[in-house]
Amino acid sequence: MTTTLLRGHVFHAPTNPFADGTSRALAPEASEMAGLADGALAVRDGRVLEVGDFDALRRRFPEARVDGEAGDLLLPGLVDAHVHYPQLPVIGAMGMRLLTWLERRTLPEEARFDDPSYARARARAFLRALARNGTTTALVFGAHFKGAMDVFFEEAQRSGLRITSGLVVSDRNLRPELHTEPAVAAAESAELIERWHGRGRLRYAVTPRFSLSCGDSLLASCGEVLAAHDDVWFTSHLNETLDEIATVARLFPDATDYLATYERHALVGPRSVFAHNVHATDDELARLAAAEGSVCHCPGSNAFIGSGLFPLQRHLDAGVRVCLGSDVGGGPGFSLFGEGLAAYEHQMLRPDGAYVSSYHLLWLATNAGARALGLGDEIGDFAPGKSADVVRIRPPSGSTLAEVLRHSPSAEAALAAVFTLAREDAVAATYVAGQRIAA
Ligand code: GUN
Ligand code: ZN
Repeated sequence: MTTTLLRGHVFHAPTNPFADGTSRALAPEASEMAGLADGALAVRDGRVLEVGDFDALRRRFPEARVDGEAGDLLLPGLVDAHVHYPQLPVIGAMGMRLLTWLERRTLPEEARFDDPSYARARARAFLRALARNGTTTALVFGAHFKGAMDVFFEEAQRSGLRITSGLVVSDRNLRPELHTEPAVAAAESAELIERWHGRGRLRYAVTPRFSLSCGDSLLASCGEVLAAHDDVWFTSHLNETLDEIATVARLFPDATDYLATYERHALVGPRSVFAHNVHATDDELARLAAAEGSVCHCPGSNAFIGSGLFPLQRHLDAGVRVCLGSDVGGGPGFSLFGEGLAAYEHQMLRPDGAYVSSYHLLWLATNAGARALGLGDEIGDFAPGKSADVVRIRPPSGSTLAEVLRHSPSAEAALAAVFTLAREDAVAATYVAGQRIAA
């Protein structure tokens, strides 16, 4: 069995810096990241064998193939827990808040996915963009058409990425061509689950768009599909903007709040990932924590479409699990490093902002997402035995990132420079199970 040494400065976030409920405690960053400046990951059979000093590993495995250079940085593959497959062309649509942005720009684009050949071209570009940004695992909000989902899963399988995704369903308030019916939604979802769930690295997520576009019967049909498959995932949107929340309250006059519209159909549990939750009530946070549901924080989107500053400390105080997402195309791009920077900025701008170090950001961009997706035993850090999902950063020569890294006083500072400055052009390679993903 051949061994490969992936050479570089190794970073990972194996322990949860938010775990004690107060993110203000200093994270264990220094001890966890030190000593591996000229390090390597020994990889065999697609799995992490060992992490250590490059020279020591070179002596241990003299026959090993070496991949990479001493100045590279190696991080666990990034986990984007909320990103929309049909929305790459919408990135950068300025001047609109959520509901106008959906109506004028996003939903017209999503209607084009009715054509499977258009969908296939978009799927390829989308998956390439994930890999080029160092994302190896994603919970992907799908398209409203079964044909578009079949081609997406086909292309996802070909890409080698770890993708959880599903047919998006809605039956009101979008555009007629994006609407379905409960029985059709359930049948098509069951068909897609049968065909794709558990195939290689693919998994299925039941995906009503949001309560604003789904009636009770449709949400009930989602609950039935979820209950019938104990290992499929669930995702939707929650408490993103104030006018959305007011509309949901009007549509569900007997629901106590937005979360209740999902709860009454058994859609809130450990397999549920809700995007945004910027404007949550204390009661909703307590119920989300009790149900062990996850919230995907998408700070770039929350800033770009003006939704608000995420109350991270309130989520932590309530014990809600939080992960990170790009929310392309509401978000400004696929980079989870960019999202990490935005997450940091949101907390700096809030009077009750949580303490967030570069180690916290790495946790959010890797292990937090892995756990929210139920993949914590397989990915998220470089513990021996886990899959060798890796992103290799190589600062472009002459770049600001290269200059800042040359002067970084510590591993934590180097990692902070990566979140602040590293983008697509700094990602030299992306690996899943030790294999380079074409980007
Ligand atoms: N809520 C319902 N659909 C969407 C979407 O496509 N993007 C965002 N950001 N929020 C949504
Ligand atoms: Zn979204």
